[in-house]
Amino acid sequence: MTGEPSSEAPDLAPPALAPPAGGQDASDPVSAGPAPGSPSDGPTDRVNILLVDDQPANLIALEAMLHGLDQHLVKASSGREALKWLLAHEFAVILLDVKMPDMDGFETATLIRQRDKSRHTPIIFLTAADKTDTQAVRGYAVGAVDYLVKPVVPEFVRSKVVVFVELAKKNELLRRQAELLRTSEQEARDLADTRAELVRDLEHKNRELESFSYAVSHDLRAPLRRIESFSRAVQDSQAERLDADGRRYLDRVREASQQMSQLIDDVLYLARVTRAEMRDQEVDLSGLVTLWLERMREAERAREVEVKVRPGVMVAADGQLLRIAVENLLENAWKFTARTPAARIEFGQSNAGGEPAYFIRDNGVGFDMAYADRLFGPFQRLHLASEFPGTGIGLATVQRIIHRHGGRVWAEGMLGQGATFHFTIGRTRA
Ligand SMILES: Nc1ncnc2c1ncn2[C@@H]1O[C@H](COP(=O)(O)OP(=O)(O)O)[C@@H](O)[C@H]1O
Ligand SMILES: [Mg+2]
Repeated sequence: MTGEPSSEAPDLAPPALAPPAGGQDASDPVSAGPAPGSPSDGPTDRVNILLVDDQPANLIALEAMLHGLDQHLVKASSGREALKWLLAHEFAVILLDVKMPDMDGFETATLIRQRDKSRHTPIIFLTAADKTDTQAVRGYAVGAVDYLVKPVVPEFVRSKVVVFVELAKKNELLRRQAELLRTSEQEARDLADTRAELVRDLEHKNRELESFSYAVSHDLRAPLRRIESFSRAVQDSQAERLDADGRRYLDRVREASQQMSQLIDDVLYLARVTRAEMRDQEVDLSGLVTLWLERMREAERAREVEVKVRPGVMVAADGQLLRIAVENLLENAWKFTARTPAARIEFGQSNAGGEPAYFIRDNGVGFDMAYADRLFGPFQRLHLASEFPGTGIGLATVQRIIHRHGGRVWAEGMLGQGATFHFTIGRTRA
């Protein structure tokens, strides 16, 4: 009589979650969760404890002692059965009877230690009163962490087992934290990879766009130059043969080609503004506005323009880009007041929802507010080129520059009443 169920194969196939054979209570099919006596492998607060003894009465006694710990208790009635459980499940601690037929506790422990999965599982040996010191030494040599003599004191067994239950739970927690850390590190790496790929893709597309712009400017300019030079040649050498209409048509051809050349320049200019590297500088906005207006009055002395500039406005921005934006706004103010008798241009600061905003206001021709958003699109113009020359790239440039700073730009106007262009810079120096 080996004490083992005859159905067990000696080479130990891993058991299913249900107890392998004999000695276990039939589980209650109604109760939720793992059946009593089944080890738990999922993420649960309970750990598995393996009780190994060939005497059913001893197993029942151990079970009674440990019942109050509220952990999964798994009973095995032989060393082989214990090994079978250990193949497929993790245990916090093994209570192992030394004296068993067929394979005793020490042999069982030696086999337990030989397996990776259970190499470090704590073992507490339980032995009858025939203990000797040599047995104890042998017990420790095969990896016992403790050694208890039967009849064991229930309190004593419980307090020792509790230590290993806590240890197993802490280890599990550590393992999960380490896993979490690994996953989040992996996720961060994946994210960085995706980002790098997107940046590479974007850079590639930008380069393509750049070479496209270059090709456009290069290829379009060459035939334009020929139109330009041949129409000039016709004008120079054939002028007397042409009548007034012919000469006028030729003038139109030359005007159109010059306008197209300007458009090409503007497209390339807009692309450059978008790509230019940003610098963080302290910019004297008032100084910039004053200087530009003085130069303009100098250049067009015939014009009477009253200017009002708020002094001392300093902002944190890219000086060169911001100058381009502000000059575009001033150019418009100057241009669209050309037919206004008492022209006035003002630069000031206001408040847009707690954020400093700046504005350039004029009392020129103004515009219909219904089209206020359209103004910032490239080549969008509300006025006739014959009345107010231009290509419609100025406000698109302004908007790109302001957006690159993280700011906003918007327009207010009324037909015949002038216009105000507001902007914020986004990053304001504290
Ligand atoms: N100060 C202003 N007053 C009235 N209309 C303006 C003003 N500034 C811009 N606009 C309108 O917005 C259009 C686009 O301006 P912009 O992009 O600078 O192009 P452009 O100056 O070449 O016409 C202008 O054609 C005009 O219709
Ligand atoms: Mg303009």
